[in-house]
Amino acid sequence: QFRREIPKGLRQLPSPNAFPIIGNLLELGSKPYLSLTEMSKRFGDVFQIQIGMRPVVVLSGYETVKQALTKQGDDFAGRPDLYSFRFINDGKSLAFSTDQAGIWRARRKLAYSALRSFSSLDGKLPEYSCVLEEHICKESEHLIKELQNVMRAEGKFDPFRYIVVSVANVICGMCFGRRYDHHDQELLSLVNLAEDFVQVAGSGNPADFIPAMQYLPNKSMKKFVNLNNRFNNFVQKIVTEHYTTFDKDNIRDITDSLIDHCEDRKLDENSNIQMSDEKIVGIVNDLFGAGFDTISTGLSWAVMYLVSYPEVEERLFQEIKEQIGLDRTPTLADRNNLPLLESFILELFRHSSYLPFTIPHCSTKDTSLNGYFIPKDTCVFINQWQINHDPCETLRDKENHNPNKSGFIRIKPKFLLMLPFRGLWKDPSSFIPDRFLNDDGTEVNKLEGEKVLIFGLGRRRCIGEVIARNEVFLFLAIIIQKLHFYKLPGEPVDMTPEYGLTMKHKRCYLGVSMRAKDDQ
Ligand code: HEM
Repeated sequence: QFRREIPKGLRQLPSPNAFPIIGNLLELGSKPYLSLTEMSKRFGDVFQIQIGMRPVVVLSGYETVKQALTKQGDDFAGRPDLYSFRFINDGKSLAFSTDQAGIWRARRKLAYSALRSFSSLDGKLPEYSCVLEEHICKESEHLIKELQNVMRAEGKFDPFRYIVVSVANVICGMCFGRRYDHHDQELLSLVNLAEDFVQVAGSGNPADFIPAMQYLPNKSMKKFVNLNNRFNNFVQKIVTEHYTTFDKDNIRDITDSLIDHCEDRKLDENSNIQMSDEKIVGIVNDLFGAGFDTISTGLSWAVMYLVSYPEVEERLFQEIKEQIGLDRTPTLADRNNLPLLESFILELFRHSSYLPFTIPHCSTKDTSLNGYFIPKDTCVFINQWQINHDPCETLRDKENHNPNKSGFIRIKPKFLLMLPFRGLWKDPSSFIPDRFLNDDGTEVNKLEGEKVLIFGLGRRRCIGEVIARNEVFLFLAIIIQKLHFYKLPGEPVDMTPEYGLTMKHKRCYLGVSMRAKDDQ
C-alpha cells in the first residue's frame, strides 16, 4: 500500500519519518488527539502516519473533514478491519464491523427507524410528550432520590457511578422495556465495564496495528475480550426471553420490533439484502452499548464543569427559574427557551471533546483529498478534538506554519495580517459557554453550534444524535433545577481526560444538595 504509484496530477501524502516496525507509535504517545493535532500544524489537514507497519491517514480541519465525510462520503464510509473490533458484538457490530456497504446501510436504516419510533412513541401518561421524555423524567426523579440518600449516608457521591445507571435505564427502557435498581449488581458490574472497553477501542491501540502484539500477553486486551463476552451474554439473555414471550400484536420495545422485522423479511420474497436474524437482532446490542456510555460520560463531564464554574451553574439555575419556574419539571419543549443551557452543552461538547476521534474510517476505493492520493482500504482517523480546538489565527501565521491547510486564499500581502484564517475558535482552551450566544444572550447562534464536532459527519454520523442531544438537555435541565453541586474540601477534582474512544475524567467525589427554599 505504501509503495503504490501515485496517479498523475495527485501528490503523495506528507508524513513524518517513521521507525521500522513501530512506525510513529512513540510519537502518538498516550494522548494521540494532542500529538496528532500538533502534527497537523506541521503537515496540514491531510497527512499520513504509520502505526506499526500500517499507514493511517489523519484528517483535521473542519472543511477538509466535511469534504471527506459528506461530499466524498461514500469514499470514506468504510470501517477498517482492526483486531479489537472483531470481538465487539461477536464481530457483527453495526458500528465497528467491516460489513459490506449494502448490509451496513440496511442495518443502519433498521436501527435508525427502530430508535426513532421507540423514542417518539406516546408516553404511557398524558403529561409526557413521548416515551423518551417519560423515561428521562422518571429516571431523573430516581437519580435525585439516590443522590439525597448517598449524601445522607456518606456525605459525598461519585457522579459517574449514579449517572451511568440512570442513563442506562433510559436506553434499557427503549431497547428491552425494563429498568434496573441503582444497586442492581448485574447492571452495575456491566456498566462499569465501559471504562475498560473505551480504552481498547480508542483510535491508535497498538494491538490493532502491530500483529505481533496480538500474540503477546496483553492484560487490557484479555479484559476487552472478556468484557465483550459478558456484554453479549447479558444482551443475549434478554433477547432469548423476548423470543419466548414475543407477540406480533404487541410489540413492546426495540428488541421486539427487530424480531418482528426478521419475521416480516421471511415473508418478503423481494427483499434483496440477505441478512441473518442474528445480524438483525444483534443491532440492539449496538444501540444499548452506544446509548449508555456516550451520554453518561457527557453528563458526568457536565457535572464536573458545574462544580468547576459555580458562577455558570448559578446563571443556569436562574435561567431555568425565570423561563420555567420551580413548580413544574422541565420538558423537551423547553429546549428553545433555555439558550444558556443549550450553549453550556455545546461548550461542554467542544471543550471536553470527550469523543476525540470518531470510530476509525476506511477508504472504500482509491480516492483523493485536497490533491493527495489515498489508496483503497486505508485506515482514516478523524481528529474531532483538533476541529473543536482550532484557534482563529491570522492568515500570515498560517502561511508561515502550514501551507497546505484547507481554505487557503492568497491575497495581497498588506491584507494578510488582518484576515482571520480557517481556524474556528477564539481562545479555544477556555471554557466559555457564552461564545455560542448572540449579543443580547437570548438565542443560540446555530452556525457557531454546528462547528462543534462530536457526533461525526456524513454517512457514518451518529444515529443517536437527536436522542442524545435531547437526553443531555433534559437530564441537565431537571437536575440543575433541583440540585446544587459543589466541590468538597480535601476531595480533588481532576479534569484531565483519560484517553479512549470516549474520554473520562478521573473518578472523584463531589457534594450535592437540594436547592433550598431561599434559593428559590
Ligand atoms: C456512531 C458520538 C450517542 C448510536 C457514533 C460516532 C460518534 C458518535 C462520534 C462515530 C461516527 C463516525 O464514525 O464517523 C456519539 C455521542 C453521543 C452518542 C457524542 C452522546 C452524546 C448515541 C446514542 C446512540 C448512538 C444514544 C443510540 C442509542 C450510534 C451508532 C453508531 C454511532 C449505532 C454507528 C453508526 C455507523 O457506524 O453507521 N456516535 N453518539 N450514539 N452512534 Fe453515537
